[in-house]
Amino acid sequence: MTVTFFLVKKGSVIKTVTPNSGENEMVVTPWEVKGKVDYERLIREFGTQPLTEELLSKIVHYTGKLHLQLQRHLFFSHRDLDTVLNLYEQGTKFVLYTGRGPSGPVHIGHLVPWIFTLHLQEKFGTRLYFQMTDDEKFLIDDDASLTETRKYAYENALDLIALGFKPENTFIIYDVEDMDLLYDVTLEVAKRITYSTAKATFGFQDSTNIGWVFWPAIQAAPCFIHKKLTGENVPALIPAAIDQDPYWRVTRDIAQKLGYYKPAQIHCRFLPGLGVGGKMSASMPETSIFTMDPPELVKRKIWNAFTGGKGTAAEQRKTGADPAVCSIFQYYFYLFEEDDVKLVERERKCRAGEILCGECKNELAGRLNKFLEEHREKREKAKDVIEKFHVKR
Ligand code: TYM
Repeated sequence: MTVTFFLVKKGSVIKTVTPNSGENEMVVTPWEVKGKVDYERLIREFGTQPLTEELLSKIVHYTGKLHLQLQRHLFFSHRDLDTVLNLYEQGTKFVLYTGRGPSGPVHIGHLVPWIFTLHLQEKFGTRLYFQMTDDEKFLIDDDASLTETRKYAYENALDLIALGFKPENTFIIYDVEDMDLLYDVTLEVAKRITYSTAKATFGFQDSTNIGWVFWPAIQAAPCFIHKKLTGENVPALIPAAIDQDPYWRVTRDIAQKLGYYKPAQIHCRFLPGLGVGGKMSASMPETSIFTMDPPELVKRKIWNAFTGGKGTAAEQRKTGADPAVCSIFQYYFYLFEEDDVKLVERERKCRAGEILCGECKNELAGRLNKFLEEHREKREKAKDVIEKFHVKR
């Protein structure tokens, strides 16, 4: 299998690397994540910075307690977070910006950066701009229709609102509907990014449609929209998984030429799917948990998940299992076991063969279904208020 891995080294020297084969193989682009993701390598080769203990303690200074996603290093890397915090200390606020490509229903992997974004918003009292890229998904997916992506933009916005965002400081931008708001900023950006940079960063081919080639300028625009809306020039901080990083590299290169701060990022790992390796991805529905999955389906998906268990119960009781490779254990680690003592105990019991996979799976299905049931109730209520979140000019 040939794998293409688009990289930008520090200082924006762009190159494309095709790693050999085996363990090392991975693809990390905004549109595809495959193989075993080596996060250390991404930090090195994308030229981002690790989230250091020093930076984490700076965050705690404002948040009071380290959020689980920071504590467990789900967020692991950044660009200019230190600069944003220093500016904040001196009285310059920042805005948050994140988004969703509404190609289908939301899965729990998508919720990871949004839950963290909500935490930052509450602790720092900042605005959030949230971009629904119904245009992007139409352009990149041969089979998608605009009617469908716009419908999913609405559906996905309900999932976002259900997490607890407030309309006073959360502004959803639906690209197709709100293009008049974004267009002049998009043009300023597009004029300053060459085709050669875009091609090297995103891997465009001769067969790529020209809408897609232009599109990265549209994802860049909300980084700067706050100034147009309020007159205030403040940096944007973007919480997202690291797959979105190519967009920010090209945006950061031109931001100061346009009189804006470089947008800052805080990157998370991918919540894995329920299979072997890889991220939770809508293109693999059998190993992904969607927010609208009914309880029986959730149970079935979890039941079929890849674990670190042994061939038979007797063997597992004797030799124990391996939580390090178990997809189920990852869900406890990242989302569903906040208590460190209980997590360590689960890990110990697993290695010692004192707990079998069926038990872990059943318990997780219960916790997940409870979470989803509550989420769906809030999602239903969101229908009454969704209009209040639509960005106004
Ligand atoms: P999309 O729809 O692919 O993903 C939405 C957000 O979810 C993150 N993500 C994940 N995080 C953790 N675990 C996973 N398994 C996982 N899968 C996806 C993505 O990194 C993203 O943060 N082009 C974008 C939409 C967009 C955007 C933005 C995203 C527009 N502006 C600004 C982030 C920030 C997209 O298609 O995202």
